[in-house]
Amino acid sequence: MKLKPPMQPSTLPNQLPAQLPVPDASALAHSQQLQKILLQRIEAAGGWMGFDTYMETALYEPGLGYYSGGATKFGPAGDFVTAPELSPLFGATLARPIADWLRASASQVLEFGAGSGALAAQLLNALGSQDCAPEQYFILELSGTLRARQQETLARVAPQWAERVRWLDALPENFDGVMLGNEVLDAMPVRLFVKHEGLIRERGVASHRGQCVFADAPADAALGAQITALETHLGGALPDGYVSEVCPAASAFIASVAACLQRGVVLLIDYGFPAREYYHPQRTQGTLMCHYRHHAHGDPFLYPGLQDITAHVDFSALAHAAHDAGLTLLGYTSQARALINAGITELAANLDRNDLATFLPAARGLQTLMAESEMGELFKMIAFGTGSTNFDTTLFNQGNRHL
Ligand SMILES: C[S@@+](CC[C@H](N)C(=O)[O-])C[C@H]1O[C@@H](n2cnc3c(N)ncnc32)[C@H](O)[C@@H]1O
Repeated sequence: MKLKPPMQPSTLPNQLPAQLPVPDASALAHSQQLQKILLQRIEAAGGWMGFDTYMETALYEPGLGYYSGGATKFGPAGDFVTAPELSPLFGATLARPIADWLRASASQVLEFGAGSGALAAQLLNALGSQDCAPEQYFILELSGTLRARQQETLARVAPQWAERVRWLDALPENFDGVMLGNEVLDAMPVRLFVKHEGLIRERGVASHRGQCVFADAPADAALGAQITALETHLGGALPDGYVSEVCPAASAFIASVAACLQRGVVLLIDYGFPAREYYHPQRTQGTLMCHYRHHAHGDPFLYPGLQDITAHVDFSALAHAAHDAGLTLLGYTSQARALINAGITELAANLDRNDLATFLPAARGLQTLMAESEMGELFKMIAFGTGSTNFDTTLFNQGNRHL
């Protein structure tokens, strides 16, 4: 992945890398409408906007953003595939620790950013079969179009539990139970920075001949202080020319979660690293990445509203913010290790091999979930608890890692 240098026009639609599919006319018109809004807002802000504002608009602008405008496509025919789309074993396995946590708290689940609703359906079915179906399953979803898709998935895949699902517009004031989110943190807006002649500059967005382009500006005090604190944590200065990102939105998110979680566990699953790996001196271009119909590339200005924009998660920063907000770290490990700890191999062994229509996709998905070269190592699970010391940590007992 390579970020474009400042002030270079982004790839124009007629200069696309050959392998990227071209959207149809109505999708292009949708994207151009969003692009117009972005350019107007850059102009109104004096010619420059932070990359976090650009990313938030491109993903969540009501009716037009990638997640809020109906363009999101999950699964093999879409832009990217997430773990619950790969195999129902993912949700069935997570239901085991979640059942334990529900027994040690109230019988309710709150899922953030439930995407297509696949994980909610898998969890409800698996918890139901353990006689532990939550009394309420809440979904907090930013996108109205995704809510509709989740309702459809639940009615089709978990009809006996669908009436227990409620959608929320905001975090509840007090929550007792289990909260979880798969690939939610990576969809939160990031601030880009560049180290230039020993100084921190913020990489934002300007307009150039009707296109959004990168443009650097002096860092404000908050960003400067955050990078200074990061360099202190890392034990040395980042090298000159270094480009990366920070995600204050993820820290603010975990602080809000902590403020409303009275008793229970929050489990977050995503791709990322601890700070020492994230900000490794050799990772000189950060982790910003775009996904468009299963093509990963580095141009966030291509087709705004039609492509996903994402960055890896700094789990050290997340753990730090959670600690400051009063949550206790229950554990942190790779997805493969956590799923093994929770018994995925046992569940896989119990699949009916004669039912090829179910067995083959589940087995294929298992390979992608677990393989070190695919999701097994890059993806991590982290959990925090509060209000009790009785939360089971089997998910992390083998292979728990330091942050
Ligand atoms: C990459 S998708 C993952 C969807 C789903 N969890 C899955 O695994 O397939 C990111 C999701 O996070 C949601 N999201 C992002 N920020 C959020 C927030 N602060 N609160 C709730 N949902 C959020 C998006 O609307 C979207 O549904």
